[in-house]
Amino acid sequence: MPTISPPALQQELDSARKQTDQLFNLLDPPFLYERPVAERHRLIFYLGHLETFDWNLIRRNTPGLGSFRQEFEKLFEAGIDPEPGQLPSDQPSDWPTLDEVRSYNAELRRRIDEVLPCISDVYVNIAIEHRFMHAETLAYLFHNLPYNQKRRVSDNTVDPVGEPTREFIHIPSGVATLGQDPDRFGWDNEFAKHAVQVPAFSVSKYKVTNRDYLGFVYAGARPPHFWAKDGEGWSYRGMFGLTPLPLDCPVYATQEEASAYAAWAGKKLLTEEQFHRAAYGTPQGGERPYPWGDAAPSPIHGNFDFHRWDPVPVNATPAGDSAFGVSQLVGNGWEWTRTPFAPFEGFQPFAWYPNYSANFFDNAHFVIKGASARTAACFLRRSFRNWFRPNYPYVYAGFRLVED
Ligand code: AVJ
Ligand code: FE
Repeated sequence: MPTISPPALQQELDSARKQTDQLFNLLDPPFLYERPVAERHRLIFYLGHLETFDWNLIRRNTPGLGSFRQEFEKLFEAGIDPEPGQLPSDQPSDWPTLDEVRSYNAELRRRIDEVLPCISDVYVNIAIEHRFMHAETLAYLFHNLPYNQKRRVSDNTVDPVGEPTREFIHIPSGVATLGQDPDRFGWDNEFAKHAVQVPAFSVSKYKVTNRDYLGFVYAGARPPHFWAKDGEGWSYRGMFGLTPLPLDCPVYATQEEASAYAAWAGKKLLTEEQFHRAAYGTPQGGERPYPWGDAAPSPIHGNFDFHRWDPVPVNATPAGDSAFGVSQLVGNGWEWTRTPFAPFEGFQPFAWYPNYSANFFDNAHFVIKGASARTAACFLRRSFRNWFRPNYPYVYAGFRLVED
């Protein structure tokens, strides 16, 4: 049963707000009217959306709270995931001014904070995690702005660790538990919890690297979205600048590119169940909350939770290896699975947010698991499921290879 939100949860909402405020502060105001990805809204939409989402959620579930500004509550209500070929055509002048949006936002935050101590913890968790999801998906959009439209932040350098091997690790058949406990927080698609028996398979210790993918491109494949032609070779389109292609880093690719690479290599992508088994299973037969065990996630375990913007080498974080010795299943880029996004047995949409997941159970989206550099630590729970279209090239997602 939902309980009233404790102060710790309110602090978490504050830190989520700080994260998205900092993100928007990377841009000079005029660039908030840009649309860096043709299929998505202009950035100004997201500035209004984050506060509007929280406000709509809370006012609809709190007796006595009415509407504040109906026109904006509707304008900023929902994002888009159009079919390819159906691109939005709105103009910057169709949107309210920055001053209008900022003062509307400030008023919403004030009204939300006033009632927050009486709000059920489920709604506060939803608000926190919704905001953190957008902190990541906004980073994908910002990634595609021209470099002169964003203020540069630098990543710490990573010591070179030597060329990663291409070894495969045998995972014996065993149980994987998918889904969340009924008394803990999770989104609708994380329920119901259930165990599956996963047959034996082998999996690459490391994610497929840019070096690996280069071989595929030399064989005629198209280069991934994150590569830019540089004379005879390729550079990497990092968040804040072009760099020489980081050969030991994971390649970011679409699920279609990943599947084509796997087929070319005579392998497959992981299923969602195989991911769980490789990440959380143990040779002794048990399961653990994180690949590395029980310890709370920290930067030694992997590249996640906003410490960096771009990837590190696939072999740079061995402290995060799973019990089977598989590296970076969580962090340094989500991993595409070959599992279409579909409900677990017992799925029930949230009555007050019926289309968070259900709209996407269409066999046109695939599950991604793990985390990227821009994924908040709260999403590192085992049961969290993310999904995108198989040809969506903007996600911080790569893949590894399977023999089964
Ligand atoms: C779960 C990341 C696929 O961004 O489309 C944000 C999350 N849903 N607002 C998305 C979401 C509504 C969603 N993903
Ligand atoms: Fe949203």
